[in-house]
Amino acid sequence: MSTLTSSKLSSAGVQAAHKAPRAAQVARLTSRATSSARAAPLAFKPVSRSSLTITAAAAAVAPAPSASLADALKPNVIARVPPTQQKQTCIITGASSGLGLNAAKALAATGDWHVVMACRDFLKAEKAAKAIGMPSGSYSILHLDLASLESVRQFVANFKATGRRLDALVCNAAIYMPTAKEPKFTADGFELSVGTNHLGHFLLANLLLEDLKAAPNQQPRCVIVGSITGNTNTLAGNVPPKANLGDLSGLAGGVSPASPMMDGAEFNGAKAYKDSKVACMMTVRQLHQRFHAATGITFASLYPGCIAETGLFREHYGLFKKLFPPFQKYVTKGYVSEQEAGKRLAQVVSDPSLDRSGAYWSWSSSTGTFENQVSEEVADDTKAAKLWELSARLVGLNA
Ligand SMILES: NC(=O)c1ccc[n+]([C@@H]2O[C@H](COP(=O)([O-])OP(=O)(O)OC[C@H]3O[C@@H](n4cnc5c(N)ncnc54)[C@H](OP(=O)(O)O)[C@@H]3O)[C@@H](O)[C@H]2O)c1
Repeated sequence: MSTLTSSKLSSAGVQAAHKAPRAAQVARLTSRATSSARAAPLAFKPVSRSSLTITAAAAAVAPAPSASLADALKPNVIARVPPTQQKQTCIITGASSGLGLNAAKALAATGDWHVVMACRDFLKAEKAAKAIGMPSGSYSILHLDLASLESVRQFVANFKATGRRLDALVCNAAIYMPTAKEPKFTADGFELSVGTNHLGHFLLANLLLEDLKAAPNQQPRCVIVGSITGNTNTLAGNVPPKANLGDLSGLAGGVSPASPMMDGAEFNGAKAYKDSKVACMMTVRQLHQRFHAATGITFASLYPGCIAETGLFREHYGLFKKLFPPFQKYVTKGYVSEQEAGKRLAQVVSDPSLDRSGAYWSWSSSTGTFENQVSEEVADDTKAAKLWELSARLVGLNA
């Protein structure tokens, strides 16, 4: 009887393993242990770590169902199919509407991808997937509330327990509170925009790096959705209030009720969103610098265009919601439909030619996809390294 020791498992992974049937645990761990050159441990680990020893004898307990059957299984059922025989899997956060939903549809429609819709409202996601015509079996839904670090960790444990391979992670979900007079806070006490859009995704991406690294796909990807509004080298990025992380003193204090903005200034809901998008784009650059060479993961960000009718603007004034779409369509010409934006995001996930790690992708009507320049602040790698360290501390990770 041979044994397999995985000292690399994160605490979340260990929780998942305890919940999964033994045969599935072994199949999953064995596939990782034998996944060749990309098997070296990452330098960045969750604070609480454990090790686990599992016997390999249980591996033969259950016969593997066909890949198509496994893809039809809901995520709370263990897929016992070896990763190489599963469809590629992409997790998309906030896939219950707008950009995320349309990207999910575009990927599923290729027939090459299974999409895990990571959503806080299960029923809304299920209804949206059906309404948009995603074939059953092309997707599954797992609960994720990015405004709770506990929920992020539980999501990761639940995903690992499915036994699915992971080829792409898309950090797409976001909230925008441009009219809020007072800040709101996550379960962990972080200002809601920064806590949801940046810190929740920061933890999620870090906890799933090992899974991406182990993907049979030779070009695993981690995409974090950015925005033109966070890039002050653009016209849109210069509309007040402008993004600015300042000296990060507010983040150092935990973007708490005492100082809810990352730069330590007075609360401003529109700026909090823009700042969170700066943090998302900086995180992509840090992920690239810290992990691309060691893992082979391609890290990227994008501005999908102005998708003026999505739920993102739900909290905006009524008149704004009425006038913004025609303004973007006929004046700025920056408007893009949800469907087209979804295809763009799906392209960043799956197009072999968009393989430059660290890139920030945009689209132009004349040239199509191009690699765009980020603002001076987003490109400030010294500030980004500080952002990384502070974020890691806040979400409970050790550098
Ligand atoms: N719309 C634009 O013009 C535009 C432009 C540039 C970039 N973006 C970016 O595109 C991305 C998608 O935005 P969208 O325009 O498609 O807006 P959207 O339709 O409102 O989608 C946002 C998604 O995030 C989810 N979400 C919010 N809070 C969450 C939480 N705590 N946990 C889990 N999920 C949560 C929402 O879930 P619920 O359905 O449960 O609310 C929804 O599915 C965002 O990153 C945004 O910054 C949008």
